[in-house]
Amino acid sequence: MTLQETILTSQTRGVRCKDCGDTGWRVKHQGPVETVERCTCYRMKRKEQLLLRACIPERYMQCSLENYNPQPYPDCDASIGRAKVLVEQFVKEYPARKIGLLFMGGCGVGKTHLAVAAIKYLILEKGIPCLFYDFRNLIKELQNSYSRDSEYSESDILEPVLSREVLVLDELGAKVMSPWIRDIFTHILIQRYNNNLVTLITSNWMDEEDRGIQEETLEERIGYRLRSRLYEMCKTIVIKGKDYRKFREIRN
Ligand SMILES: Nc1ncnc2c1ncn2[C@@H]1O[C@H](COP(=O)(O)OP(=O)(O)OP(=O)(O)O)[C@@H](O)[C@H]1O
Ligand SMILES: [Mg+2]
Ligand SMILES: [Zn+2]
Repeated sequence: MTLQETILTSQTRGVRCKDCGDTGWRVKHQGPVETVERCTCYRMKRKEQLLLRACIPERYMQCSLENYNPQPYPDCDASIGRAKVLVEQFVKEYPARKIGLLFMGGCGVGKTHLAVAAIKYLILEKGIPCLFYDFRNLIKELQNSYSRDSEYSESDILEPVLSREVLVLDELGAKVMSPWIRDIFTHILIQRYNNNLVTLITSNWMDEEDRGIQEETLEERIGYRLRSRLYEMCKTIVIKGKDYRKFREIRN
């Protein structure tokens, strides 16, 4: 059973820890001396909380580096396997090396899968607080917060986005960037960059050299200044491939 499965099973079963009775401390005998130490369930509970607080969409909860196939079909582009290697390198080197990632690629090539796999690894293996946000949902939540009867204020919503150690912003550029959205995004990026916090971004839009038949580039979509900032904050990972959803459908 993987650690995540163990966490989720104990969560649904609601069992008491047999080693510590849920106190989080376990008695350790060393000859005649009794000491206490943190029980393993304590670390598991922390990871369970981190996993819940990361707000990973249900559909992506099972995504991991292990189940990302570096060669999902014969003759696939080497960029798929390379992307996996780069993400593995990123999670292993974190936090010694803090650099964001910008996943670029067409529909269904595995960008969100890899971004989720990265934060799940950081949570489960390193206990790092992470947060997942679909960029369009974030904008919607912020817009809703301005209505008079809203439960949350703009700063309630922005607080975790600005401060969580690792943030995934999924689907950048999917929404047309109005000047207001551009300002919000710039604010988030600059704040996080200044505080040495890592941001992982996914986008369907590409740079000029990879755009192919796309009518716009990421730079055209989000503006020159923002694209330039992303070069500084993130390592670009371009994934070229077929839509895995379609491919999976045909294979089954
Ligand atoms: N190489 C792969 N190995 C295993 N599963 C994959 C791979 N690539 C994609 N998938 C699976 O295919 C589905 C689509 O992948 P994902 O959602 O990550 O694509 P995406 O690049 O984010 O697409 P979009 O641009 O539409 O958001 C997911 O269920 C994901 O787990
Ligand atoms: Mg996606
Ligand atoms: Zn315990």
